[in-house]
Amino acid sequence: MKLPSPRGSLSSTLIDALNGGGSLAGVSVAPDDDEDLQLSLFVCYELAYRGWDGVDDAWEWDPGLLRVRAELERGFEERLHALVGVPAPADPSTVPQALLDIVAADDGPALSKYLRGQATHEQFREFVVHRSVYHLREADPHTYAIPRLAGRAKAALIEIQLDEYGGGVTGRMHQELFKQTMAHFGLDLTYGAHVGAVPATTLAVNNLMSFFGLHRARRGAILGHLAAYEMTSSLPNRAYGTGLRRLGGDASSTVFYDEHVEADAVHEQIAAHDLCGSFAAAEPELAGQVLWGARCALAVDNLWAQAVLDAWDSDHTSLRGWRASTTLCA
Ligand SMILES: [Fe+2]
Ligand SMILES: [Fe+2]
Repeated sequence: MKLPSPRGSLSSTLIDALNGGGSLAGVSVAPDDDEDLQLSLFVCYELAYRGWDGVDDAWEWDPGLLRVRAELERGFEERLHALVGVPAPADPSTVPQALLDIVAADDGPALSKYLRGQATHEQFREFVVHRSVYHLREADPHTYAIPRLAGRAKAALIEIQLDEYGGGVTGRMHQELFKQTMAHFGLDLTYGAHVGAVPATTLAVNNLMSFFGLHRARRGAILGHLAAYEMTSSLPNRAYGTGLRRLGGDASSTVFYDEHVEADAVHEQIAAHDLCGSFAAAEPELAGQVLWGARCALAVDNLWAQAVLDAWDSDHTSLRGWRASTTLCA
């Protein structure tokens, strides 16, 4: 993935350093705004995934960079607390039902309904661009939790992830299936190709998973996050598939969505009971963190969905500096 263009003074300093411009020791961590904060965090986190073109892999564990990342995470965490409150202790035996209640109480923006019945071809294409940042590495942030678990919870996570990774068949990996949807819209399929086009709200959706997944201390939150995703996936994906067919999508371009209608109806049960329920029983002091992670997942996704709908409502693009022609396949 190519390093993106900076969005403020901090991301500029960070990207310069990764490009060989020196150390980050002593750099003051004061992002200009949300765009600068979320992009800086995304740049730091990507070092723990597939990395940046031309950037030394050793940056992943550079003390100066980790200090910058930790300070950015403090800012991000404060925003999460303002959004959904702080994690509160919970009775571990109630975790599966509490997850169901959190999901049932979520009356987020009706993005899936809009995509099903009203979105234009161009709007659906924008939606695919936003989602590509996650779907091209779908499941990877949650995989970081596997070595942190044991017993039933670990087996349940692996059962879910095995489906996400296509049971070991490349063409069935959800990351690969999404490329078929992207190809339908003539989009560049390269991993991370559209990071520069998405706003802070989209980066925050992705940064949240990294923030939870990369820290062992937040292993409860990443499981709650996964459960919230699995438990709110089946119906929206049905709507996305229907919307795409309405716009001329064929079986190949809708397979990603169709696959999730079936798979996630099963995953939601495994996630709530076998994964989160077993985990909470094994580590009861983290039961509240599981629920907090689920609340964060829904709240941050809702902010993103609302921003997209607001942009479309006022006849604007939901992307940054978006020109359709610049993202066509070469
Ligand atoms: Fe998936
Ligand atoms: Fe799933």
